[in-house]
Amino acid sequence: MPHGRITGWATHLPDKVLTNDDIAKMVDTTDEWIRERSGITSRHVGGTVTEMSTEAGKAAMATAGIGPEDIDLLLLATCTSDQQFPSSSAVVQHALGLTCGAIDMNAACSGFVYGLVTAMQFIDGGLDRVLLIGSDALAAITDWTDRGTCVLFGDGAGAVVIERSGEEPSLLGWDLMSDGSAAGILYCDHGGKIVMNGKEVFRRAVLAMENAATNAMDRAGVTSGDIALVIPHQANIRIIEASFKRLGLPMDRAAMVLHRTGNTSAASIPLAMVDAIDAGRIQPGDLLLLVGFGAGMSSAAAVIRWDPPQA
Ligand code: ACO
Repeated sequence: MPHGRITGWATHLPDKVLTNDDIAKMVDTTDEWIRERSGITSRHVGGTVTEMSTEAGKAAMATAGIGPEDIDLLLLATCTSDQQFPSSSAVVQHALGLTCGAIDMNAACSGFVYGLVTAMQFIDGGLDRVLLIGSDALAAITDWTDRGTCVLFGDGAGAVVIERSGEEPSLLGWDLMSDGSAAGILYCDHGGKIVMNGKEVFRRAVLAMENAATNAMDRAGVTSGDIALVIPHQANIRIIEASFKRLGLPMDRAAMVLHRTGNTSAASIPLAMVDAIDAGRIQPGDLLLLVGFGAGMSSAAAVIRWDPPQA
């Protein structure tokens, strides 16, 4: 049976950079506190989901060497759609010149992995190519007077083209989970700003990352020793370190962009993945573990074999 594999990829970040020192002029904090507690040095702000998604989507199609007419479905993972409706995916579909269906998916920071697993099911169901974009504009819903949250978030987008191929499956195991009992610890009401119980999110995030990763690896029939690179949701370096410790993974196997992007929600995993590709850290045949958590609380993990088209 033909299976999906990633054949194109790209990212987009808005031009405007906000450093920790810039934030220290807005609220009572310091560059040192933010770096020590989160690992973040700067973040990009000022993007909209539709603009960032369009740029990343266009560049991903170019990497795959395909045109808009080749895409059979657009999946846009976001929790910050520019309007209540229409969906941002509808606006992006038109901006990219696509002639297919378009869906917004909201699983917060787990959105990209939810989207990846969903895209693979559509490919197994008969589609030839899915464009998957993870994009969030968190700066617009950040309370810039709340030092407990405003130091963490940024804007960005990452996109991949997933194509049907006759070769071995690239998605080897996955896990999707949601625990709505924790919905109240991280939320944003319509027209409101992000509200977060940071300590509780931190505690649950470490466990959620461990559970999701373990389930996905078990289903793939692999162990942490088989994973060449882990691409974790970029929320906080201490969450990543704590979950890696529990999983028996060394930190040098983590793809990281957190220091220069902050937490970009659904964009964070593709931003870290594309950064690792560009840096030559991912080779054909490598097993990658993508793992994230977010509001909901949602969590998701996928083990994929990196199988790009040969040049
Ligand atoms: N600068 C200086 N001091 C601060 C800041 C700041 N930016 N923010 C909080 N503090 C203070 C607090 O007021 C507190 O002071 P107090 O002891 O006098 O009351 C002190 O620092 C310690 O605060 P804590 O909340 O205990 O700090 P903690 O070490 O837990 O770090 C943080 C806070 C960074 C928010 C951490 O809890 C965290 O990262 N949590 C997870 C957040 C996260 O990942 N959210 C995204 C989820 S993904 C999604 O779906 C969007």
